[in-house]
Order: sequence, then C-alpha cells, then structure tokens
Amino acid sequence: MTYTVFITGATGYIGGEVLYQLLNNADGLNFEVTALVRTESKAANLIAKTGSRVKAVLGDLDDTELIKKYTEASDIIINTANVDHVPSAEALSEVLVASLKPKILIHTSGTSVLGDGIKAKKPPATKIYSDSNNIGELNSLPLAQPHRPVDAIVLDIHDKNPKIETIVIAPSTIYGISNGYDNLYSIQIPFLISASLKNKQAFTVYDGNYIWSRVHIKDLGDLYYLVLHKLIKKESLPVNREGYYFGSLTIQDAPNSAAPTEIEHTWKEISQTIGKKLYERKLVNSAEIVELQPQAIIELTGDDFAPAYWGTNSRSRGDNGKLIGWKPKYTSKQEFLDSIDDDIDHIIKNLKF
Ligand SMILES: NC(=O)c1ccc[n+]([C@@H]2O[C@H](COP(=O)([O-])OP(=O)(O)OC[C@H]3O[C@@H](n4cnc5c(N)ncnc54)[C@H](OP(=O)(O)O)[C@@H]3O)[C@@H](O)[C@H]2O)c1
Repeated sequence: MTYTVFITGATGYIGGEVLYQLLNNADGLNFEVTALVRTESKAANLIAKTGSRVKAVLGDLDDTELIKKYTEASDIIINTANVDHVPSAEALSEVLVASLKPKILIHTSGTSVLGDGIKAKKPPATKIYSDSNNIGELNSLPLAQPHRPVDAIVLDIHDKNPKIETIVIAPSTIYGISNGYDNLYSIQIPFLISASLKNKQAFTVYDGNYIWSRVHIKDLGDLYYLVLHKLIKKESLPVNREGYYFGSLTIQDAPNSAAPTEIEHTWKEISQTIGKKLYERKLVNSAEIVELQPQAIIELTGDDFAPAYWGTNSRSRGDNGKLIGWKPKYTSKQEFLDSIDDDIDHIIKNLKF
C-alpha cells in the first residue's frame, strides 16, 4: 500500500532527517511524498538529491489555500517548518476537523514550551517534565509559553474529529549532522557559536546555569518514523492528547536534583566548551566566557528570542518514546560536546560577518 504524505520543512534540519527516514525505511512502506518548498532552486535540489522520489510544491506557510489543498489530498501530514506559525496550523486544523477520511498529523514543537522565563537570579531548576507522567500538566501549559499556541490548535483536532490521529514531537536541544538534503545543522548551538564569534568571546545569558536536555538528530528521526510506523500498523501507542513525545533522552531513577544529569547540559557548560574550542582555533583572544544581559544579546544577535535559547531551564524526559520502544543510539555526553567542533566548522564556512 502507498501512503500519500505532505511534509513542510523538508529542506530543513529536522524535516530533512524525517524525509530521509521515510524514503529509506526498512519495513517496505511506500510513501508518495509532496514537500512544500519555498523556492525553485530548493525544489530542484530536493528533487535531485532524493532521486526524484519527492514531488515539490512551491509555496509558503502563509499560502493557506495551498496548505489546505495538500492536507486534504494526503493520508499523512508531517509539519516540521515553523513551529510557531498559527495561520498554517489553523488551515491544517480546518481541513482535518472536516475530513471524512482518517488521517495522521505529526506536528513538531519544541521543549522551549517548558521554558521558565529569563531572570537574573533563579532558584536551581529541579522541575523535570516527563511526557508520560506529567501529561496533564503539559496539556494545560499556558498559551503564553513558546510554541504553545500552535500545540493547542493541534491537540484540539482529535477532540473535534476522532478520525484524525495527532502526535506532537517536541525536541529538546538537537545536535549532530542531519541525513537531510539542504540545511544539515541545528539552531541552538550553531547560533550560540556565531553569536560568540560576533561578540569576539563566548558568553552566557546571566550566569548560564540553566539546564536543558538533548537528542541527536538521527535518534530524533528514528522517533518520528517509529511513531508513524506504529500509527500505520495500528499498534497501540499514546496519541492525541496523550500523544506528546519529547525528543529527549531519558534516564531510569534519576534523582530530582538541581544538578544536571549525564543526559543534560547547562548552557554555561556549552559556552565554556565553545570558548575553549574557539580559543584553540585562535578565533577569539580568550577561552574565558563573559556574562551578558538579555538586552545585549538581543542587540548582538538581532533576535528577540535569542536569550530564551540559552537562558531558560527546560528539563524534559522522553518517556513516551521509551514506552513504545524508541532506543536512542547517541547517548554519550562527551560525543555531544565533541560535536560542537562540527558546528564550528560549519559556522566558519558560512560566516556572514
Ligand atoms: N533545531 C532544533 O534544535 C529545534 C528544536 C526544537 C524545535 N525546533 C523548531 O522546529 C522547526 C524546524 O527546525 P529546524 O531546525 O529544522 O529549522 P531549519 O533547518 O531552519 O528548517 C526550517 C524548514 O522550514 C522551512 N520554512 C521555514 N519557514 C517557512 C515558511 N514560512 N514557509 C514554508 N517553509 C518554511 C524552511 O525552508 P527554507 O529551506 O526555505 O528555509 C526549512 O525547510 C523550527 O520552528 C524550530 O524552531 C528546532
């Protein structure tokens, strides 16, 4: 059987990995994929790199009529473009709620949704969210939290039309090089590297003692595929309001302590690693890091959200993934820290200032 898939963000880091997994799956499932792509040159590149196994439709998330048309025409919708784009989520929702045919929606969010705000002094972060044990709390996060407006639209769909199964995958800090087709690099750490170079010194938001969880892009791709496979095969798994999956490593019996476990990092640790690596390469004059205020970081980066990338706590555990048999292969913290070298290589190659 062939399944029709409409994917957004296929030229991106996450979407490229997900598309790769669809096209290279080992269980013989056949996907007829249409990707929303923004430019002709990106479309041509995607088609060439996938050996013409993907159709590209030219458009933007703001083209809501196009989003509706391809949502209507597809069995499976995978949304990996801009996770905060409300109009396209509303367009998806409108079609799915009215659909007479069963369909699957896999939507991407992010664990910034758990972020605890930016303050000069915060108590140590002991709050750890499990996508399984804390599902009630996750379903009632305030709309003011990042990504939450679109999450809320997606999570309502099944209540309005039980024919539609929805999954939200919320990745934590993603690292590693994607198997994708265009952008192969993540956002959070590469952006911190380029901002550090612009600042001529690595830095933290205030003292940088904020904890995040992590996942390798290839493990994250495995999670998308596993969830999709189980939905297609009608195997039991948490779906809809329970179908919230953190793309985060998980650990058995971890103490609820304020110190990061081996599956987490502080942004101070990442900044120190960046400082050391940039200094070793003679790209900055000191390996020391400096504490910056949020406003200085906004001015440095031109991005109002930048302080939140590196100045919040977001401790998450991908327990739902584990429950359905997701087995991340990339678990070493040292390899995670070492991967910053690849990001530095990438940033230097594409330096724009
Ligand atoms: N990377 C992470 O660590 C991480 C973690 C959690 C959540 N997220 C979120 O997940 C989403 C995807 O992240 P990513 O790392 O894959 O980003 P990315 O590499 O920049 O990819 C974004 C993809 O979405 C497409 N896109 C963006 N805006 C669009 C629009 N208005 N219309 C149509 N297509 C659009 C891009 O197309 P072009 O190729 O034309 O630019 C690209 O294909 C982002 O919203 C990000 O905030 C990322």
